[in-house]
Amino acid sequence: MKFFIDTANIDQIKEAQDLGILDGVTTNPSLMAKEGITGEENIKKHYLKICEIVDGDVSAEVIATDFDGIVKEGEALAKLHDQIVVKVPMIKDGVKAIKYFSEKGIRTNCTLVFSVGQALLAAKAGATYVSPFIGRLDDISSDGLKLIEEIRLIYDTYMFDTEILAASIRHTMHVIDCAKLGADVMTGPLSSIEGLLKHPLTDSGLEKFLADYNKGK
Ligand code: E4P
Repeated sequence: MKFFIDTANIDQIKEAQDLGILDGVTTNPSLMAKEGITGEENIKKHYLKICEIVDGDVSAEVIATDFDGIVKEGEALAKLHDQIVVKVPMIKDGVKAIKYFSEKGIRTNCTLVFSVGQALLAAKAGATYVSPFIGRLDDISSDGLKLIEEIRLIYDTYMFDTEILAASIRHTMHVIDCAKLGADVMTGPLSSIEGLLKHPLTDSGLEKFLADYNKGK
């Protein structure tokens, strides 16, 4: 399972990278705005900065919603760096653009996916990644994890190459449940990754080991 961090915050990306387990980064316009990164040129510079920190894939989202605009923006983003994956929304022109990009060898991440039908379309169009937003489904009393399970079943049945990128992860149990269900990738905040470290028995066990070692001094 690949671990992506879902942020545009450079310190947090560095911290996850330093842990040695980071496989990539996902961003979106809201995450960029949260860091105060605005304007096309600044956003592009920020993507390059992120690519210098991590070795893996960095999702960069298009703003256009029409086919020509998505293609123009996506091609420019893909040219920026070979780690860039073009993030395209699940809309009609987005599906057409994903098909176009896949034929051109440009990698894509189909974002804002909330149903099995959308995930099926993304795979048919040749998306590299599909991003089901599980946290946002949970927020409206729907079952985000069930969606991951159903997409896994369909992709395995038809042997689609599209990787399931579980997105909108809110906490550590989401990470664990997505791993159990066979998501290829998870993207979440640093806290959801660091939560995997924690166990009270590890803390108390270590405390006792160190105390016993120091008795012999
Ligand atoms: C995915 O790539 C999105 O950036 C992200 O996971 C959305 O998460 P949110 O629902 O916490 O905003």
